[in-house]
Amino acid sequence: MSSWSTTTATKPLRGTVQVAGDKSITHRALILGGLAQGETIISGYCLGEDCLNTLRVVRALGIPVEDIDATSLRVLGKGLWGFTEPSTVLDCGNSGTGLRLLAGVLAGQDFFSVLTGDGSLRNRPMGRVVNPLRTMGASITGRRAGEYAPLAIAGQGLQGCEYRSPVASAQVKSAVLLAGLLAEGVTSVTEPVKSRDHTERMLQHLGVDVQVDGRTVSVTGRRPFTGKPLSVPGDMSAAAFFLVAASIVPDSELCLSGIGVNPARTGVVDILNKMGANIQIRNSREVSGEPVADLFVKSADLHGITIEAEDIPKTIDELPVLCVAAAAAEGQTHITGAQELRVKETDRIHAMAVELSKLGIPIEENPDGLSITGGKRLTGAQCQSYGDHRVAMSLAIAGLIANSAIIIDETDCIETSFPGFKGKLLDLLTNS
Ligand code: S3P
Repeated sequence: MSSWSTTTATKPLRGTVQVAGDKSITHRALILGGLAQGETIISGYCLGEDCLNTLRVVRALGIPVEDIDATSLRVLGKGLWGFTEPSTVLDCGNSGTGLRLLAGVLAGQDFFSVLTGDGSLRNRPMGRVVNPLRTMGASITGRRAGEYAPLAIAGQGLQGCEYRSPVASAQVKSAVLLAGLLAEGVTSVTEPVKSRDHTERMLQHLGVDVQVDGRTVSVTGRRPFTGKPLSVPGDMSAAAFFLVAASIVPDSELCLSGIGVNPARTGVVDILNKMGANIQIRNSREVSGEPVADLFVKSADLHGITIEAEDIPKTIDELPVLCVAAAAAEGQTHITGAQELRVKETDRIHAMAVELSKLGIPIEENPDGLSITGGKRLTGAQCQSYGDHRVAMSLAIAGLIANSAIIIDETDCIETSFPGFKGKLLDLLTNS
């Protein structure tokens, strides 16, 4: 397991950065490509381990997926019931999105399958997808009555349902909608706050009739659809590390090109700009049904703000690196209504509280968030990633403004979402 001794920035970060393809969109492209009839070419896909695990699972379900070049794949979909029974357990690794979305698809197939993952994933709540799927007629068992993976799924004919989700979760919404594609009748999901809508957009792009009415999304089941080219934009959640880096290292100026700017994902830009950052979204266009643009960021003096419950779903994955921005900002930042962070790859509220306090940042851990007093020079320390890619990368960004190196243990986990992150950051530190 490799560790990383971070480098303090001694000069501005300048240039153009190409970030990893969007992880959420890549999972969906692989799964929907498999359920479509015929060829789906996916370009610019995320090469992170999470997505590679979903790719392996789709192959294990009998769907040919061929490499075209370093960033493009050809999926030869066989239609809604074209998957075949896998002869072994399906391992989703670290990926909650992979496991939960696949649970929805496998619940409506006519064969038996078992989904599992690594130690982190086997400790994350699965009842949130298992329960609505059971109301559709799914037969799923698992540890603690289906609350934890491994999940054993005896595929069944499903019935559509009207599901009111207690959590704003795109994984829950997508699992139910994907099961809905295989179910008889209409399936609808209503969320308390709208979560990312990549599943809905991709289905619409593939010609599926998806009805969206406020916070309710509906699909009608058992209607075949055809594969189509899908171009994956850069991942806003990966871009976020460089947005914060350039904001906090004086005199920096970066361009991040071809980033997905779906309004359900741009919370990090809005929040940083509210903190005083200088981030501009330019050259907006639409690619494969998703808004895409180039981001321009210049360093700025940041100040603390309050981030409230309704802001959280739009920036859920960027909160660890926003904690680093808050540490660099003058004054207090309060993050509230973010209890979902406790059930991510690790408990990210606890992890950020413990690790940032090691760097000398006054930080208070609350049940649903954090209060951070920024503006003090960060001190180097020995830190832990908890095996969580976003914690590891956030600490590397903190290292840019620390007075000496931060030693981050277990940084292999960065491969989960952003292979090449370290090289890109080191290039900026040496070549800008
Ligand atoms: C994701 C949804 C979010 C997010 C995760 C990716 C998705 O999780 O945190 O990284 O691709 O649907 P929840 O749906 O559990 O909030």
